[in-house]
Amino acid sequence: MTDPFQNVDAAGEEFIAAFADSMDARQSDPKMETIVSNYLAKLQFPEGSLTVEVGAGAGAVTRRIAARAKPERVLGFEPSSGFVKEAKTRALTHENASFKVADGTALPLDDNSVQNLILHTVLTHAEKPDLLLKEARRVLKPDGCLVVCDADFSKASLGSSASDPLDVCARAFVNEFVTDPHIVAKLRSLMTETGFVVVEFDVQSRTIADNDQMLPWVEETAKRMLARGDIGQELFDGLVSEYKRRATAGTLYGYQVFATAIATPA
Ligand SMILES: C[S@@+](CC[C@H](N)C(=O)[O-])C[C@H]1O[C@@H](n2cnc3c(N)ncnc32)[C@H](O)[C@@H]1O
Repeated sequence: MTDPFQNVDAAGEEFIAAFADSMDARQSDPKMETIVSNYLAKLQFPEGSLTVEVGAGAGAVTRRIAARAKPERVLGFEPSSGFVKEAKTRALTHENASFKVADGTALPLDDNSVQNLILHTVLTHAEKPDLLLKEARRVLKPDGCLVVCDADFSKASLGSSASDPLDVCARAFVNEFVTDPHIVAKLRSLMTETGFVVVEFDVQSRTIADNDQMLPWVEETAKRMLARGDIGQELFDGLVSEYKRRATAGTLYGYQVFATAIATPA
């Protein structure tokens, strides 16, 4: 099945609303706040500069960038018009942030016009990540900076025991909602081949123990299993309540890995 993040509008309004909230919740997690604020602290926002987020989704990260770059301009490009609508509504108080519908392979920007360009959990969903990086290289100023922050989905888990049914859902989520779960392993060579010098590469893990942040991994995949007739309503209900039971009992163990690569044009 194709990764729905390759064409979010086709996935429908329910998907857009659910993932707009889920990406907001993910970004509010203290570990994710630290990851984002650490890379933003390394960027320069000179007067009159433009910072761009490509694949901005509903703007969870764009809002953090705008708060840091203020009063300089931040522009979020996103191919889904549904996400752009959500992003505009959620960023009303960020006057220096705006959003436009555009694909990361064809940005409506001049060559050498962007100070910072951020790709946050986008390349793992891209069929041709090299094309997004080449476009980033085209629009970045010679003294500009590229940040790629992505999940290493190949290492993600919801397993607390061997053959844990919740981990089956986590693996199904990676199979059905991610295009390349191994993108992080390829990141440095991809960035070098597309004209960047990687100046920093760091990997951090985060655990999900007591909240709903990985519930969509169970709910959305079990919903698909139910729709296909692979499982019945009882097992669907059971998987969802097992996630909630563990979160309440303090036995939930979700694990994710995030890599941050910072690069300058070669
Ligand atoms: C998991 S979301 C991340 C959204 C946002 N960066 C955040 O972290 O909240 C991945 C986003 O990548 C976008 N995307 C997928 N393919 C893209 C492409 N070719 N160009 C730009 N964005 C793309 C999707 O539409 C989606 O909004």
